[in-house]
Amino acid sequence: MTAGPRDVARHVVWGEIGVRRFPVCIGPGETARIGELWIDRGAGDAALVVFDGAVKPHADAVADRLRDVGVRVVPVAVAPGEPSKSLAELERICRVAARAGIRRTDVVVAVGGGVVGDLAGFVAASYQRGIRLVHVPTTLLAMVDSAVGGKTGVDLPEAKNYVGAIWQPEFVVMDTELLSTLPARELSCGFAEVVKYGLLDSVELFTRVERWPDPLPGDPGALVGLIRDCVAHKLNVVAQDERELGLRASLNLGHTVGHGIEAAAGYGRYHHGEAISLGLLAALRISHEVGGASLDWRERTLAVLERHALPTRLDPDVAVEDILGAMGRDKKATAASFNMVLIDEPGTVLLRQNPPHEVVVAAIEELR
Ligand SMILES: NC(=O)c1ccc[n+]([C@@H]2O[C@H](COP(=O)([O-])OP(=O)(O)OC[C@H]3O[C@@H](n4cnc5c(N)ncnc54)[C@H](O)[C@@H]3O)[C@@H](O)[C@H]2O)c1
Ligand SMILES: [Zn+2]
Repeated sequence: MTAGPRDVARHVVWGEIGVRRFPVCIGPGETARIGELWIDRGAGDAALVVFDGAVKPHADAVADRLRDVGVRVVPVAVAPGEPSKSLAELERICRVAARAGIRRTDVVVAVGGGVVGDLAGFVAASYQRGIRLVHVPTTLLAMVDSAVGGKTGVDLPEAKNYVGAIWQPEFVVMDTELLSTLPARELSCGFAEVVKYGLLDSVELFTRVERWPDPLPGDPGALVGLIRDCVAHKLNVVAQDERELGLRASLNLGHTVGHGIEAAAGYGRYHHGEAISLGLLAALRISHEVGGASLDWRERTLAVLERHALPTRLDPDVAVEDILGAMGRDKKATAASFNMVLIDEPGTVLLRQNPPHEVVVAAIEELR
């Protein structure tokens, strides 16, 4: 007889950021416990449940569990996709909250991926100068990345993530069963960030990630442990540097070139995790050229990215000059210094100022 997912052990990781201390509960079926957590944490009388329209059944389940413990639920659906991360949506949701009588002692509950987490998180940070927040991430990316760390915000037409706040949650519920409805492409995107954590954390975690079987998300028990280790890595870094004055920048491994590719290709062409897949390969080439890291790490990373259907080659019509331009590294760029995160081996991170221009160009060229 094989063990059902409900027999898989759950894990609780504690975030300790400044004076805040909050649990991140990870396990299959974890949403069933949200009422219990709500009472334990003394959360409010009413919940503004902001959810991605694509996950309405998951949001309904969360709302039902809250009603079970006597919470008044005010649901607000958000259209799927990055354009919802806007000031217009922030205003719309705050006005729904105001009309529904959501008070300072009430709680915003974000049910969705990083888009809803960032948007609803910023609603919580700004509505009535800040109310409590609960994250219920529904994508792998949101579980390992955006639902922990406290960054919230919206995009401007001029630039992504330009208006926001750092706002830590009251608690986070990561129900790995919610990933069963997530499209394969989105699972792969989240896995690109998991590969990043493997490289940042240790040879042990990298090796576990490297051996992760296809298809994603894989064995339920192993998955809970994998998410726990990524979350623990991020929370440990953020606990030391919440406002990204130093160490937190290490979490941007693969993101310097990755963001350049996302912007140069036109947002939407590559999903974020796909651009990060390419960005990681460039960072590992630069790590070799500048810091002397073994090229084995690049080859091994390439193999695991490929196995999980992440891109390892750049589309030929995305111009290198455009990528450099989006990175602020083109001819017009000012002399402003630019930092890149590199590794020596998994677990040994170097922050390098101004890696030589020709090395960066060659690392991007190699992706063709
Ligand atoms: N705050 C942070 O620290 C941080 C970190 C990384 C990324 N982000 C932000 O996160 C966003 C990307 O997050 P994302 O990758 O989760 O994207 P997303 O929120 O857009 O979700 C991806 C897609 O999956 C759908 N979806 C979500 N959960 C589902 C489920 N369980 N079943 C079926 N469909 C589901 C959504 O409707 C959407 O179409 C970006 O806006 C990025 O800026 C923030
Ligand atoms: Zn990322």
